Amino acid sequence: MSELAHDHATDIRLVVVDHQGQRRALTAVAGWRAMEVIRDWGVGIKAECGGACACAGCHVYVDPDWVDRLPAPSEEEIERLDEALAVEPNSRLSCQILMTPALDGLSLTLAPGSEPG
Ligand code: FES
Repeated sequence: MSELAHDHATDIRLVVVDHQGQRRALTAVAGWRAMEVIRDWGVGIKAECGGACACAGCHVYVDPDWVDRLPAPSEEEIERLDEALAVEPNSRLSCQILMTPALDGLSLTLAPGSEPG
């Protein structure tokens, strides 16, 4: 069966472990924030500030294989993470992770405190 209508070579995959421990593979779009991909695929994430780096409700743990492949966090992100629950060395705010083809296969786990509602 042909899949010519859709060029999978351009897909960026984002793997997310949700608050129930379920692993989900999402298709991301270059230029979107990881938080936006997670939110728009209907995976529950608090993200109250909508990506303004103001709420820490998009806190995730980055898979160890990926930690060093992400751009370093800004001062603003580090300050905001200080206010998050259960911060670990691999903690990041998913609204500050810009999806690019280089991040194809990025794996994140939603952290405590980022549950919606
Ligand atoms: S969505 Fe609020 S800090 Fe990321």
